[in-house]
Amino acid sequence: MRGAAEPARSAVGKLDPSERLLRSCRGEAVDRPPVWLMRQAGRYLPEYRKLREGVSFLEMCRDVERAVEVSLQPIRLVGSEAVILFSDIFTPIPEMGVEVDFRPGPTIADPIRSLEQVEKLRVPDPRESTPFVFEILRVLRAELASERVPLLGFAGAPFTLAAYLVEGKGSKDFGTLKRMMYAAPEVLRALQSRLTEMVVGYLNAQIEAGAQVVQLFDTWAGLLAPAEYREWVLPVHTEIAARLDRDRAPLILYVNNGAHVLDEMLESGADVLSLDWRVDVAEAAQRVGDRASLQGNLDPCALHQSREQIFASVRRIAEAARPARGHILNLGHGCLPDTPVEGVRAFTDAARALAEERPCGA
Ligand code: CP3
Repeated sequence: MRGAAEPARSAVGKLDPSERLLRSCRGEAVDRPPVWLMRQAGRYLPEYRKLREGVSFLEMCRDVERAVEVSLQPIRLVGSEAVILFSDIFTPIPEMGVEVDFRPGPTIADPIRSLEQVEKLRVPDPRESTPFVFEILRVLRAELASERVPLLGFAGAPFTLAAYLVEGKGSKDFGTLKRMMYAAPEVLRALQSRLTEMVVGYLNAQIEAGAQVVQLFDTWAGLLAPAEYREWVLPVHTEIAARLDRDRAPLILYVNNGAHVLDEMLESGADVLSLDWRVDVAEAAQRVGDRASLQGNLDPCALHQSREQIFASVRRIAEAARPARGHILNLGHGCLPDTPVEGVRAFTDAARALAEERPCGA
């Protein structure tokens, strides 16, 4: 049941953070929007940089104790109301048989360009190939249960993972990937299909280990025109949404630069659409109505504003999102290394202030 008969976001008493997030994902009544930030753990926090000293990023992701500590930092330090597993979209890739390095972006030693290379990719049981991911989730869930703070898992979407695997590194336009799409579609199709198998198994194992919500990051799918997105990306999102254990964990779909594919995002069946800052929230909220919840969408650079300006921006976004069945306050993309800690704190405080400014049901 998704509470379809309930009037969207009507009056309820004060909720705990877990209920607030889960109810917002499903479009049930809440007291105010929940708040967390993409890339909330990272280099903008001095406490993160201290723990990172002398350890590579990949080591950090595999070190359960450090990863748990870093995942929890944003709760204490900036007042975030959800914890996301500290990891990267590339964590499961080495075990598929691909060498990955971070400099600091992912770099692939031997980029994938042929069907032979795709066929060599393994899809191992994630519980055996990346056991530390699930251990981190189990420890986090145990630590968060008493505070009733929700835990999110995540994965990179096949198109975005394929973009790096084919290109070999980050790029502005991913020309090699796009060339493959037009000149050797069978290779990209086979690659996405293998990555889809990996992502489905990996996210379901995260749900089993305690993730209460999962987010799929498709950072580069917005490079495509609507027709190509419909052919190459929508079927993949739809398949993933259909094969996840969503009775236990709703799915948030993030597409960066996706203003032109909002209808396609909606068609995937994801519970929440996470918007970047280029999207007009009022328009998106009208469009999705009671069919999906929204997440977003402050420009991460707007955290350089004054506290008062950040409060005003948050009020504006929350107001614009009201026609959607639910709304999770977040950024339009991840926190940047130069993001001011004070700005992040103002952002989460502004979400809490919404409850005071707008009495329930007003
Ligand atoms: O949101 C969170 O707090 C959870 C952690 C998280 C990281 N990466 C940690 C990270 C998540 C959800 C990601 C996702 C990710 N990683 C995406 C999809 C979302 C997006 O941002 O578009 C992508 C494309 C990547 C690939 C990636 N990883 C890049 C391009 C980089 C380098 C650029 C950068 O900002 O550093 C990374 C490294 C990375 N991933 C860091 C962190 C904290 C920095 C590593 C360091 O400490 O040096």
